[in-house]
This record gives sequence, structure tokens and C-alpha cells, in this order.
Amino acid sequence: MPECHSTNDVALERCQQENPTEGTVIFTDNQTAGRGQRGNAWFAEPGKNLTFSLILKPSFLAVRHQFQLNIILSLAVHDFLSKTLPDVRIKWPNDILVNNKKICGMLIENSILGQTIRYAVCGIGLNVNQRQWPEERITAMAMVTHQDYDLKSVLASLLECIEVRYLQLRSGNHHETRQEYLDRLIGFNHPQQFITADGTLQGMIVGVDEEGQLQVQTEDALRTFRPKEIQVSSTEA
Ligand code: BTN
Repeated sequence: MPECHSTNDVALERCQQENPTEGTVIFTDNQTAGRGQRGNAWFAEPGKNLTFSLILKPSFLAVRHQFQLNIILSLAVHDFLSKTLPDVRIKWPNDILVNNKKICGMLIENSILGQTIRYAVCGIGLNVNQRQWPEERITAMAMVTHQDYDLKSVLASLLECIEVRYLQLRSGNHHETRQEYLDRLIGFNHPQQFITADGTLQGMIVGVDEEGQLQVQTEDALRTFRPKEIQVSSTEA
């Protein structure tokens, strides 16, 4: 679409009104009301970045395993970016950082019926050719490599990486993908200071549970957190 408010909203409307084929991608050059995690807005200069939503129907995936979708999509973006960029890392739950700066964000919205996932709208914003951002902590592919990219080719290559990881998910080896995710996760097994609603906390990320909650080992306990409950540092000391 040349322009739309939010590709996730368009995809969700399609899913409610018709029965789109699995693998349908809603892609726009100009997303005017992009949505991010935690109710934040997602901004991207028109024609310079990837803003798209992929419709999946992972009926094979138990609802309690739905975080596996975040895992395989994070791995797919990581697979794609690390072909050309250095120092690509995942920041829990599913941000992708290059040189400690955010290059990609995801908003995955699932529709659940009973014990099955009817559909998953996987919204991905990947910063590609935009070289100026309001915040220092954001980057784009072109800022790292000093070259411009053809957006359609980037989309096609990224979708190939997603397909590979999705087929891996369908074959069911959750343990292996979870371990790969942890290996690429910023702060995994590194002591750090976290910010929580109760103040600062000294600890170490030791895992992510089935529901996607972050497991932090502190001096005296193993604690779990949802995304809104804890702030993880973007760097490793
Ligand atoms: C985040 O906050 O990190 C998630 C950002 C997700 C942005 C993408 S852009 C395409 C899709 N449509 C939306 O409205 N949001 C997602």
C-alpha cells in the first residue's frame, strides 16, 4: 500500500473480515500511525524503511508456546542482518540492536481461540535507509554500512529468513531455538543493574520462560518479569 495508518491494523482488519492466506504481507511506504510496544508510536520516514505485517496461522503452536513466535522472528531478523552487519544482538523481548542501537522493532498480535492461535499478525519495523533519527539510540542499515538499499529486495531477503525459521518452528524443536535466542540475547549470563517499579536491582539474565518472561537471578532469588515490569540495559559491561 502506498500509505496506511498501521500495517498491523490493516492486517488485523483483514483477518477479522476475510480469511487471508497464511503468508500474506501488508507492506506500506508510508505508515502514518505506526504502533510500537507498550502503546508507543512507531515513526519511520516515508519510502526509507520497512514497515510491514506478516499474517501467520500457527495452528500447530500451543497457546502457552506463543512466545516461540517472538523467538523465531527475532532469530530471523538476526539471521538476515548479521549477513551484512556487525554486532547484531537481540534485546529482550524482541528488539534487534546493532552496535547497541535499535535497528528493528516488532509488534506481534495474536488472536487466540480456545487452545489455538487463530492467526498472528507479525508487525516489523526495520530501519533501512533513514540516516537521521530524533534519538541517538536508533540506527539504520545505511548508517552502519554507508550504502543505500533497495527496500523490495531487503523485504524479499528478510521474508526468506523468516520462512526458514518458521519452518523450523513448525518442525517443533523449541529447545534449540530458545538456546539460539539466549546466545544472541544482550545481558544473558552477564551481571547488570536493572530498573524495576521497586527501584534498581542487581542480577543476571539466566533465561526466558515459556511465556516469554525474563528470568533474573538475583543474590537471593530467581525472579521473573514481564516486559512492562523491568528495564534491561542495551549494553554489556
Ligand atoms: C517496537 O515498539 O519496538 C515495535 C515496533 C513495531 C513497528 C511495526 S512497523 C509495521 C507494524 N505496524 C505497526 O503499526 N507497527 C508494526
